Amino acid sequence: MTVSKRKKEHIDIALNQDVRFRTKTTGFEKFDFIHCALPELDFDEVATDVEFLSKPLSFPMMISAMTGGFDGALEINRILAEVAQEKQVALGIGSQRQAIEDDTHLETYKIVRKTAPDAVIIGNIGAEEVTGEVNQDVFQKLVDSIEADALAVHLNPLQEILQPEGNGHFKGVLKGIETLAKALKIPIIAKEIGCGLSVETAWKLKNAGVKILDIAGAGGTSWAGMEYHRGANAQLAQSFWDWGIPTADSLQMVSTISHLTIIASGGIDSGLTMAKALALKAEICGAARPFLSIAESRGTEGLVEVLDHWKEELRMAMFLTGCRSIKELAKKEILYRSSQFSI
Ligand SMILES: Cc1cc2nc3c(=O)[nH]c(=O)nc-3n(C[C@H](O)[C@H](O)[C@H](O)COP(=O)(O)O)c2cc1C
Repeated sequence: MTVSKRKKEHIDIALNQDVRFRTKTTGFEKFDFIHCALPELDFDEVATDVEFLSKPLSFPMMISAMTGGFDGALEINRILAEVAQEKQVALGIGSQRQAIEDDTHLETYKIVRKTAPDAVIIGNIGAEEVTGEVNQDVFQKLVDSIEADALAVHLNPLQEILQPEGNGHFKGVLKGIETLAKALKIPIIAKEIGCGLSVETAWKLKNAGVKILDIAGAGGTSWAGMEYHRGANAQLAQSFWDWGIPTADSLQMVSTISHLTIIASGGIDSGLTMAKALALKAEICGAARPFLSIAESRGTEGLVEVLDHWKEELRMAMFLTGCRSIKELAKKEILYRSSQFSI
């Protein structure tokens, strides 16, 4: 199984199969907004813009890492990059592992920077690639090829042990990340892919020099679900379909650690959910699969419309909780545990 073929299968499955968590949710539904009938500001004063990795974003949104490294990825990445440039949101590209093997599909990654010269672009590599002796030149070449603003290292132990070709070699990943964080000129982002980060893991990563964490919690795309459809051991994939720390819970755990930038992803599905995540101290939100489906079915225009809609939802939630800026959203107490949900 080549890396390229596997990437194509992931995209096809994400587009055509139901790979959402089955019973576990993100946990954001347990919170509701404290409505403010006296916002004491005008709606047009409410501003959603932020800065991320020293570049402006029109609102704190990232299209999370998905693809690159096979023929069909070129068009998907072109659409995602067009949208990132037009709407001033960040964009994570999919694993660049294929580009370590050879240059065949280099253009599927490079298209992103060509199309979005001003956007925040984040490179991506897997945990297994950073174990053992880390050859920093290899990674520098990867980030240079797309002029990346940061490099994400994805931590995917569940997927690795479920996928038919996985090997589960995770010894030495932390050391590799530490070496890479020291060697590269750009920041490292450590990210899960749908099982969340615990507070203990977050501390280890922070102590290894990582300053940005993408919790990518449970409640959105299930990677056991993805691998189930790729022919993983069906019974095991079923057992672990709903494995992971719900996004809201992971966020609450990890946000107790100071001086970390937290990206909240995993089941972020609207501007309202974004507002909750930002109120729970995330600085940026990310979403992957929901944007892939829209890019595929409705192209650039469709995705622009959806992002505009999420941004307006976020702005309305800010107004109705009396928040003028994203900073205020994080500072004020605007959420309560809803009595409609028993915990
Ligand atoms: C089709 C697909 C491919 C993905 N590929 C990658 C990848 O190459 N690297 C990575 O770090 N995460 C990858 N992810 C994980 C996402 O970046 C994200 O963390 C996860 O899907 C949770 O977000 P969601 O619930 O909005 O989909 C992929 C997700 C999807 C749906």
